[in-house]
Amino acid sequence: MQENDIDNITQNNAAHSICSIISNSEVMPGVFLMWLEAADIAKKAKPGQFIMIQCGGNTLFRRPISIHRTEESKLAILYAGLGSGTQWLSKQKEHTPIDILGPLGNGYTVNNDDKNLLLIAGGMGIAPLTFLADAAVSQGKNVTLLLGAQKEEMVFPGNLLPDGIKCIVTTDDGSMGIKGRTTDMLSAYLDEADRVFACGPAPMYRTMYKNNLLMNKPCQISLEVRMACGMGVCYGCTINTRHGLKQVCHDGPVFDFDDILWDELVDI
Ligand code: FES
Repeated sequence: MQENDIDNITQNNAAHSICSIISNSEVMPGVFLMWLEAADIAKKAKPGQFIMIQCGGNTLFRRPISIHRTEESKLAILYAGLGSGTQWLSKQKEHTPIDILGPLGNGYTVNNDDKNLLLIAGGMGIAPLTFLADAAVSQGKNVTLLLGAQKEEMVFPGNLLPDGIKCIVTTDDGSMGIKGRTTDMLSAYLDEADRVFACGPAPMYRTMYKNNLLMNKPCQISLEVRMACGMGVCYGCTINTRHGLKQVCHDGPVFDFDDILWDELVDI
């Protein structure tokens, strides 16, 4: 990344910040919760936005990571230590300086009229949806969360969820909650929802599309694609939508479900 790229993005309501780690702990096997002191970004962030984080190790590019929640001048990320960059990140200790850009992307939009929100989190999709649930609860909205994981150990801990939401857990193997997928439970909670907000892996979205599970209920989803620059410079994250070509990092990562041309989207 060039310095003038950083200047462009900082002019675009995002900040370039060297912030300090407050804590970094493993909350599920291989999944870490990191809190950062990052006032410039935390105060502007919206649910569904992300940061680009410079990891050490052998990583050249910044990694896009969803903003998990904020608290005044603090910001949290929830991330899986899968690649060399995030494994490096998982080993960083309190007070270590971390270089981040953000907040980036558009974020979820909740209308004032939306009273009952249905959130669908597949696996690590819980990361941005926790922030959305925090905001919705603070605005007096009713939140129902369908929280899916492969097995009990990979279910996001209930004590880290916001108070005041209804949570239905599914696991693929039935080791906790209801055996099956979040998408199996969608029809049971769809009627009472004014709007659906989802974040999860591509197969979850494809199941929703192929089986028409949303029944025309408005739904916003967060797309996870490979990103290099994360700020609309490289065009590496371009997808085709009903409104033409869009860059996931800049025009998304949140899109209306119906705007995605699912039959054309092969890379996620
Ligand atoms: Fe470069 Fe989106 S990642 S334009």
